[in-house]
Amino acid sequence: MALSSSIHPILIEDANLENWKVIGSGGFGQVYKARHHKWCCDVAVKLLHYDDGRSSSLLREVEMMRQGSSPYVIQVLGVFKGRPPSSGPSAQLGLVMEFMERGTLASLQDSLCGAPPWPLAFRLAHQIGLGVNFLHSLTPALLHLDLKPSNVLLDWYLNTKLTDFGLARFSYSVTRASKKDSEEEGGTISYMPPEAFDLSYSPTRASDIYSYGILLWSIVTGKQPYANALSSIVRLRIPQGDRPSLEEIRSQAAGRAGITGLMELMVRCWEAKPDKRPSSFECTTMTEELYKMHKHAINDAVHQVLKKLDQKEEESLAEHVERFHITQTSGVNIKNVPTGRPPIQEMAGSWTSNSRVKDVPSPQRANEVAPSQNSKCIFKASAPSSVSAPGFQP
Ligand SMILES: Nc1ncnc2c1ncn2[C@@H]1O[C@H](COP(=O)(O)OP(=O)(O)OP(=O)(O)O)[C@@H](O)[C@H]1O
Ligand SMILES: [Mg+2]
Repeated sequence: MALSSSIHPILIEDANLENWKVIGSGGFGQVYKARHHKWCCDVAVKLLHYDDGRSSSLLREVEMMRQGSSPYVIQVLGVFKGRPPSSGPSAQLGLVMEFMERGTLASLQDSLCGAPPWPLAFRLAHQIGLGVNFLHSLTPALLHLDLKPSNVLLDWYLNTKLTDFGLARFSYSVTRASKKDSEEEGGTISYMPPEAFDLSYSPTRASDIYSYGILLWSIVTGKQPYANALSSIVRLRIPQGDRPSLEEIRSQAAGRAGITGLMELMVRCWEAKPDKRPSSFECTTMTEELYKMHKHAINDAVHQVLKKLDQKEEESLAEHVERFHITQTSGVNIKNVPTGRPPIQEMAGSWTSNSRVKDVPSPQRANEVAPSQNSKCIFKASAPSSVSAPGFQP
């Protein structure tokens, strides 16, 4: 599949975008949701922290990404140049992408506090494989190099699209330079192949396949690999052969179609030697077969999860309305209170110092779970989520 070259990316300016809301932030900078008023749809805008002189090559790369299209890979719609609300006087650059209403696989895992129902787990595994296979089939192949749950976006019906593919190689200079060491790794390190810790590392398709194997483990268990280990230990132990534990998955496999197959696939993907790992084509051929076994139950599984997500959203809206109501009936015009806490807040028993902090106006996060709700799991999903905390497996 060849990409045609294009000279000019579609430029999207301030005038086209309205209703900016912060939805997240990562190594590249802040991500906003905004409405493109001519296209009549929401878009996601990923702003770059700053231009260190390499942004132009980054944008060329983006334009290349824009040429290929797959239902399992995020569509880059253009390049933003302008001044988003409450930014400084200088124009900023960013990527404009389709907006994915259900956030990321990472946020889904947080909400579920575990793994999704099996049919959905198998579909996630397959669709992510399809996305990787698409990138690897391009000429020249596009390596993702940062496969992890926060780079798997979900549409309204929980179908996946990969994002941030091909950007990892820019990430050190453009993005990570401003971050502290602990932040820098941001979960990425657990998905990195053993060869990536070598000074002479040169990434290949097999690097993505390793990360895909770890991602499969995370989907099936609903957990983050090596969640309790220090990153310095992870760096040391991965090249020595440690991998996430399979014990809990094994204990679920009996009598359940496809689990052993999926487990075998993840083990092949995280082989120490890159040339022993399967190709993305082999992976998708396999996941297609596995998903077929569960496809008949996919609608029920998706419906079950969506109902819970919507219910949670309603509860959080109701919470907000409740707090708004308390403020409104107080009779205190908050705007006219120059300093200090409004007296009514002292009287309302439910107000805590924390809730006051949350009420300080801040940019709205459109598709993120608020920290206060993050701790509430919407359900302990059926089979996959019942596995206990993973450890290391020698
Ligand atoms: N196209 C999109 N549609 C909807 N939400 C998005 C989109 N792109 C990003 N987001 C949101 O923005 C958040 C931040 O994304 P970002 O890629 O910047 O950070 P990250 O993936 O957590 O870290 P990293 O910088 O390592 O990729 C995501 O977690 C997601 O909630
Ligand atoms: Mg990302």
